[in-house]
Amino acid sequence: MSKTYSLPIKKTFNPIRTQMKTTPFEGQKPGTSGLRKKVSVFQQPHYLENFVQSIFDSLDGFQGKTLVVGGDGRYYNKTVTQTILKMAAANGFGRVLVGQNALLSTPAASVVIRKHQAFGGIILSASHNPGGPNGDFGVKYNISNGGPAPEKVTEAIYECTKKITEYRITETADIDLSQLGEIQLGEMKVEIIDPVADYAALMEQLFDFYKINALFQSGFTLCFDAMHAITGPYARVILEEKLGAPAGSVINGVPLEDFGGGHPDPNLTYADDLVNILSGNEAPQFGAASDGDGDRNMILGRRFFVTPSDSLAVLAANAHLVPAYKDGLAGLARSMPTSAAADHVAKALGIACFETPTGWKFFGNLLDAGKATLCGEESFGTGSNHIREKDGLWAVIFWLNILAERQQSVENIVREHWAQYGRHFYSRHDYEGIEAKVAQDLMDNLSQTFNFLRKGQSFGTHVVEYRDNFSYTDPVDHSISTNQGMRVGFEDGSRIIFRLSGTGTDAATLRVYLESFEEDTTQHGLDAQDALADLIAVADLIAGIKKYTGRDKPSVIT
Ligand code: G1P
Ligand code: ZN
Repeated sequence: MSKTYSLPIKKTFNPIRTQMKTTPFEGQKPGTSGLRKKVSVFQQPHYLENFVQSIFDSLDGFQGKTLVVGGDGRYYNKTVTQTILKMAAANGFGRVLVGQNALLSTPAASVVIRKHQAFGGIILSASHNPGGPNGDFGVKYNISNGGPAPEKVTEAIYECTKKITEYRITETADIDLSQLGEIQLGEMKVEIIDPVADYAALMEQLFDFYKINALFQSGFTLCFDAMHAITGPYARVILEEKLGAPAGSVINGVPLEDFGGGHPDPNLTYADDLVNILSGNEAPQFGAASDGDGDRNMILGRRFFVTPSDSLAVLAANAHLVPAYKDGLAGLARSMPTSAAADHVAKALGIACFETPTGWKFFGNLLDAGKATLCGEESFGTGSNHIREKDGLWAVIFWLNILAERQQSVENIVREHWAQYGRHFYSRHDYEGIEAKVAQDLMDNLSQTFNFLRKGQSFGTHVVEYRDNFSYTDPVDHSISTNQGMRVGFEDGSRIIFRLSGTGTDAATLRVYLESFEEDTTQHGLDAQDALADLIAVADLIAGIKKYTGRDKPSVIT
């Protein structure tokens, strides 16, 4: 297999393998995206080791094989990486590929796993959750296709965490991960790789870098906000060095362990610096941001926000302009709460659009089976069959490729899209930091209320068409996932969905997803919150949000 980086150093450590006695910790159940807890929880003696050993115990046949390890650079990333290297060696892996300074964005980890045919990978991240000693940490296992472990694997890991009695670790000094190179740790080889190289090479294969370069040469302007998270180094190399965006186009590009005290979530609330930059008359023509681990993206035009649901639909409708997708798409897939904008495009293209539960892991089988090419979630996630994770920078380059081909503004492209397919007004209202019991009571009450909702029942102009608790049968392995969100759909195509977040680390977050459909172009200029105002009121009527939470508005609106 060809290598794209050189490995000048060769050192050998001869560690001693140790079996450590331990007892189980409660609650090591992976959520929507791996095990996420406060840093202080991971810092308890044996807590991390128990979980990592449970990952290994749940797997078969990795002896002598390759493991990929890296993370988003948040506080504790380096310490945890050292422990994982020592445990991988003691458990019998043959080789670990680890990003320099223990860094790998989530999409880059997926690239590396696939390119080097690794057995799997461990990604250290709590995505968009805040970092630092008082922040969050996370550990996620990805399988050999480069994607998050499916539920049957995460359940097996969880079962192991409940029974664990010992873990294996080598006793050795920490490895210097600051230099590219190769180190022998007992019988296991550690290769310290450039975290950007394999990823950048793949992007060059997918997109027309020459055309995008010409776009920048013509004076096109971009501002990419890396939010002091992992995408900074990737964006500098790809956007500025390879694609020719003016120096300084990437802002907040140095990854910091606490993300500069910010909340590295690219949305209108937390990426408000970027939103302000894009709001002026002389603003750059294109704005984008990515999250803590680089798998999310937000797309902005000058004074214009593209909802992630619309972004997926626009990418699908324009995919024929992009080298990697010019021969057509096999199908689309979106998470259930994501708006149905992509469905219209799929229909026009004569391809299927799959509706999956929330969480990227549900796209893996569809991508592996060649049933879907592009996937997306309303939570600022977009991706394709090039890897098995969502990919923030990929979406940005995809947009740049479309902009280079169409030579129109972001706003014009989206408005033309709405004129052709209709507009899906869309918003998600998050109520963060609700006491867990209150959230559960609210959901229990909602189940009761749902039992009494009838088809044909009216809420103002909205007439109930259906209501259910979404359940999904995977079309490939036929596994069934239940309880994936309470949804009520109306005859006019509008929908409200309620679910509790599965990625939080302490209190609960209620997510309310609101969507309505408008074909009349004279209405397309409305603000989404105004267009959805009556649905927002219906949501409160049905779920009693104010009554249960005591809140009169959400904490985050996207
Ligand atoms: C959230 C998003 C979901 C995404 C996940 C991981 O999960 O809603 O779409 O896949 O983060 O980035 P939630 O907190 O809603 O369970
Ligand atoms: Zn993320």
